[in-house]
Amino acid sequence: MPTALITGATAGIGAAFARRLAAEAFSLVLVSRDESRLNEAADQLKLRYGVRVEVLPADLTTDEGLATVESRIRDGVDLLVNNAGFGHPGGFPDVPVEDEVRMLKLHCEAVLRLTLAALPGMIERDRGAVINVASVAAFFTRGTYSASKAWVVNFSESAAAELGNPRIKIMALCPGFVRTEFHERASMDTSGIPGFLWLKADDVVRAAMRDLAVGKRVSVPDPRYKAIVAIGKLVPRGLQAQVSARLGR
Ligand SMILES: NC(=O)c1ccc[n+]([C@@H]2O[C@H](COP(=O)([O-])OP(=O)(O)OC[C@H]3O[C@@H](n4cnc5c(N)ncnc54)[C@H](OP(=O)(O)O)[C@@H]3O)[C@@H](O)[C@H]2O)c1
Repeated sequence: MPTALITGATAGIGAAFARRLAAEAFSLVLVSRDESRLNEAADQLKLRYGVRVEVLPADLTTDEGLATVESRIRDGVDLLVNNAGFGHPGGFPDVPVEDEVRMLKLHCEAVLRLTLAALPGMIERDRGAVINVASVAAFFTRGTYSASKAWVVNFSESAAAELGNPRIKIMALCPGFVRTEFHERASMDTSGIPGFLWLKADDVVRAAMRDLAVGKRVSVPDPRYKAIVAIGKLVPRGLQAQVSARLGR
């Protein structure tokens, strides 16, 4: 049985990846900070899908947490899903610098280190895949969040190109708004977001797996967001930044 390790696997998009990969008979390694929630998720997945599920409690913004997960990945995983992430309550420059750095650690350092831990085994076996969850925010200017997700997209594309091996896939996944715990955790007011822009986590994961199978390096699920990203690329960066800053205020 192939093994998938998913970070941030107890909620939202990560939990949807866990359900989907369990349904495809992957053995799972679930990573997040809350151990009791991990155990609960593991029990449900084992019961429903009859697959092997390990839990690995770790805070991926700490060196200790990262080392624990790197070590498990080096033991062998076939699919790594770097999904754990969060948003800030508030915008630049009001976010405390410690929180900005914590975001960079989770969205960039963890993605870099866990991908680097996974690749030697994948290269040796000549197969494997890494999905790095970014965001459509990567294509716009919106503080450290969008900057960190832009790094994820660029890193994933670069890593895939450097490897140049179609049997080892590296893909950035760029969802739009998804109904998860993300916005509530960040105390974000989502009342102004129109209903038609919300995606379901299971649909995002379905699109991601389809795009991974055909070898895409950047996946933007849903035609609405494909159009938004395409239009965003036509708007000059300076103007985009001004509009974004005004919307943020
Ligand atoms: N929801 C959206 O609209 C949206 C849109 C585009 C991109 N994304 C991206 O999608 C990814 C998943 O977001 P989501 O919406 O599914 O969020 P979510 O529902 O809030 O789930 C976040 C998951 O990450 C875990 N996590 C958070 N901080 C962690 C840390 N320091 N170490 C280890 N695990 C940690 C959480 O568990 P614990 O709290 O127990 O650690 C939880 O399992 C993120 O990278 C986010 O940026 C989300």
